[in-house]
Amino acid sequence: MESIFEILNKNDFNRCNIVTLLKSKSDESKLILDKARAVKLANVGSKVYYRGLIEFSNICLKDCYYCGIRRSNKNTNRYEIDADNILKAAKFAHENRYASIVLQAGERTDNVFVEKVNKLLKEIKKISNGELGITISLGEQSEEVFKRWFDSGAHRFLLRIETSNRELYSKIHPNNNIHNFDKRLEMLQSLQNIGYQTGTGVMVGLPFQTYEDLADDLLYFKKFNIDMVGMGPYIEHTETPLYQHRQKLLPAKERFNLTIKMNAILRIMMKDINIAAATALQSIDPLGREKALKFGANVIMPNITPTIHRKEYQLYENKPCIDEGADDCMGCLEARIGLAGDTVAYGEWGDSKHFFERQKKK
Ligand code: 5AD
Ligand code: FES
Repeated sequence: MESIFEILNKNDFNRCNIVTLLKSKSDESKLILDKARAVKLANVGSKVYYRGLIEFSNICLKDCYYCGIRRSNKNTNRYEIDADNILKAAKFAHENRYASIVLQAGERTDNVFVEKVNKLLKEIKKISNGELGITISLGEQSEEVFKRWFDSGAHRFLLRIETSNRELYSKIHPNNNIHNFDKRLEMLQSLQNIGYQTGTGVMVGLPFQTYEDLADDLLYFKKFNIDMVGMGPYIEHTETPLYQHRQKLLPAKERFNLTIKMNAILRIMMKDINIAAATALQSIDPLGREKALKFGANVIMPNITPTIHRKEYQLYENKPCIDEGADDCMGCLEARIGLAGDTVAYGEWGDSKHFFERQKKK
């Protein structure tokens, strides 16, 4: 079997190589992390781009078995932030030179929702003189809706595939028309065709998930030619069906380390994409996101949702920063990023370099 050292010197990793890297223990893992840091600095530099995250509603049509805001969870208070307050949060981002925001919400496809988003996109562009970049993370929609939102100003879209393994996908979702693996992959393709900078991701450490599954996830991102990735650890939530399988999970610390390694290996495999340090990392380790930034990631999504609603947008438990206001977090976040050896690129969009390379080759 090839050593970690030999694998890291190759230009391309196969499935078996990735599994070996993922299973490596501490000293050897350090080699992977160091290499990821070097690849990051050489290709995307030490700048960290902010995407102010606005979680504007936890009303969701879907019933994913892992998610705290799933439709069947009756023990959560549902909310929807009105347009004025969403715009206030966007203004906060603009004034503080965050450069981009992410609009995220539970999944809805009704007209009222589609129109609200459409209007918001136009309004956000207007109040920021076109300066705020807008990423949306609003689930599965018709191609027509994807197009409309693109034309109204959204230029990046996040749609995690959650896992690239069809069987695993069917174990963590209900099996019906609105939770369909093939449809999910088709949607991602349609986002890329429309011209969005396209982002996806998976959860790491899910019950039933194997090292081979994780290797396949990374190979999928590469094959798909994805522009942006976010990968966080799976975190169990008491009010969800997957909670019953908690005995099957790796300890939280190991899930965390595995996630950091996934991010690092991906950086080595895809040198010029944007990788977001997932918020869920911070639920296990207070410095979790900064560790991901150190070893590969280059984007962070500071939460700027009005504080009163943060408690209610709990996809997983032990969610960080739910009691803080957006401005409380700013100084300390910048300092922590500095400690990780990176700098915040205020006022810069920091689009995925990979996206532009992909356009050139078209
Ligand atoms: N643990 C970690 N991540 C989760 N997400 C949803 N539920 C959980 C959980 N229990 C992630 C999913 C989704 C993203 C918005 O949040 O990957 O795509
Ligand atoms: Fe809302 Fe999965 S539970 S999209």
